[in-house]
Amino acid sequence: MDQLRTDDPKRVDFTLSEDPVALFATWMTEAEAAEPEDPNAMALATAGSDGLPDVRMVLLKGFDARGFVFYTNTQSTKGEELAQNPQAALVLHWKSLRRQVRARGPIAPVTAEEADAYFQSRRRESRLGAIASQQSRPLADRATLMKAVAELSERYGDGPIPRPAHWTGFRIAPVSIEFWQNGDFRLHDRVRFTRTGEGWSRARLYP
Ligand SMILES: Cc1cc2nc3c(=O)[nH]c(=O)nc-3n(C[C@H](O)[C@H](O)[C@H](O)COP(=O)(O)O)c2cc1C
Repeated sequence: MDQLRTDDPKRVDFTLSEDPVALFATWMTEAEAAEPEDPNAMALATAGSDGLPDVRMVLLKGFDARGFVFYTNTQSTKGEELAQNPQAALVLHWKSLRRQVRARGPIAPVTAEEADAYFQSRRRESRLGAIASQQSRPLADRATLMKAVAELSERYGDGPIPRPAHWTGFRIAPVSIEFWQNGDFRLHDRVRFTRTGEGWSRARLYP
């Protein structure tokens, strides 16, 4: 297989990495340099108690050995699905780099302190929008939403804007993380890391 690789032979072979956390951090840094828009955009798959898979984009806002963090409205469709079945899968696709990362595992809310810290780091308008949005519920027209934001803006003035109870972060604790790099003639490189207690086992997969 390796002799079929036509990419730069001096490049480090990611399939030999032993630490998926470090490898993801490297790929994320490279994506931040290469992708013109939202390199942290990821598709998040959930399934509620009806078992029907659902998927949508969210932004990855944190990553470390504990997992992948995004923020959302707990009363949204995804929030309800996660309450029914706290497991999720995600995929990032970096078109410019022709790379994909997939992960799956159980999911849990971040701590209130973590959610508060991130909420307060957001722009004022985004904080007001998070309070005003009844995400995933029917909305009569855009004016209704804009009016709600204007009323909140008036109410809070220049004062502090507390994080609403319905808005928090979730962390997917991966049981597996898979890295995929495009190869010529569809002979892609693919490696999957699987959690084994405190460590990871690694397997190269047919593309
Ligand atoms: C690039 C991109 C990033 C997004 N990021 C988020 C996000 O971080 N959190 C969020 O709740 N929705 C985000 N959205 C909107 C979601 O895709 C989705 O429309 C919304 O969360 C409602 O999904 P639901 O009805 O399945 O809960 C994003 C959409 C796009 C296209």
